[in-house]
Amino acid sequence: MRVTKPVLSVIRRLKMNDGLEIPQLGMGTYPMTGPEAYAATRAALDAGYRHIDTAELYGNEADVGRAVRDSGLARSDVFVTSKLKKNRGYDAAFAALRGSLDRAGLDYFDLYLLHTPVGGPTARAEGWTALVDAQRQGLVRSVGVSNFGMLHLAEIMEVVRRAGKDGPGGAVPAVNQIDLSPFTRHTGIVDMCETMGTLMEAWAPLARGARFDHPSIVRVAEKYARSPAQVMIRWGVQHDYIVIPKSSSPKRIESNAQVFDFEIAPEDMRELDGLNEDLVTDWKGILDAE
Ligand SMILES: NC(=O)c1ccc[n+]([C@@H]2O[C@H](COP(=O)([O-])OP(=O)(O)OC[C@H]3O[C@@H](n4cnc5c(N)ncnc54)[C@H](OP(=O)(O)O)[C@@H]3O)[C@@H](O)[C@H]2O)c1
Repeated sequence: MRVTKPVLSVIRRLKMNDGLEIPQLGMGTYPMTGPEAYAATRAALDAGYRHIDTAELYGNEADVGRAVRDSGLARSDVFVTSKLKKNRGYDAAFAALRGSLDRAGLDYFDLYLLHTPVGGPTARAEGWTALVDAQRQGLVRSVGVSNFGMLHLAEIMEVVRRAGKDGPGGAVPAVNQIDLSPFTRHTGIVDMCETMGTLMEAWAPLARGARFDHPSIVRVAEKYARSPAQVMIRWGVQHDYIVIPKSSSPKRIESNAQVFDFEIAPEDMRELDGLNEDLVTDWKGILDAE
């Protein structure tokens, strides 16, 4: 069945360092699986989302892929991200990617990430080399990393420098997907990625709801007559981050996308920028993994 609903808000697209574009707002799918993941993905696509975030780890690639295929949208109109669960060397990365594509029933992913830095320098470098080769073979369009701290990023940039443009692993990560919200700002990583030309992608952009009642969030939400979730998503949008809030509720999925029709004023952005408390929502210590 074709999607008949109009796109509800014009979702901005950002240009990645490989020249391709990514819808700035996507829907997160963790920890939904089975019918819940399928229904939420369909609801998101019906509401106008064109970017879905899945991963081998989430166990929902099949549900997400089926929802994308059933949506009636052209494959080229939907941006699908998945992630390599474990860094276990070059061949294992390729095998895992093929498994993910098979499960999703897709010919390619728009973006494929090393999900974590865990595994050590050699496994990271081999995983990265495999991703870049997969990109060159057309199995994935863009490649990036997730949960990479500054040392991991420096390490990848050394691989890239040694490789040159066409050598093994010779592509700068298009994105780094990390835990990012007004309460978790990771300014060192963000600044480094900006220098590298790597876009930030914010997971847990809502801090999983843990700070919806923070006085500054409540004040700004009231001022703009928006929900706390919309304020937190809009904060990320105004920082030019890619933002992937998760919801299983069609109503919340829809309202989370209504963030391209208002603007938070500079003085309110400054207040939100000051809320960092290095809040950890998940993966404690992963940015420092050896
Ligand atoms: N790369 C990584 O290591 C990594 C790690 C974690 C997550 N991720 C990705 O990032 C996505 C987003 O992060 P996240 O799911 O951890 O956290 P999140 O998006 O910050 O928060 C999700 C939580 O907020 C609730 N919520 C959503 N919209 C709401 C609204 N408008 N009002 C009230 N509550 C609302 C959801 O509940 P309902 O579902 O009931 O609405 C859910 O409990 C994930 O789904 C996943 O795709 C990546």
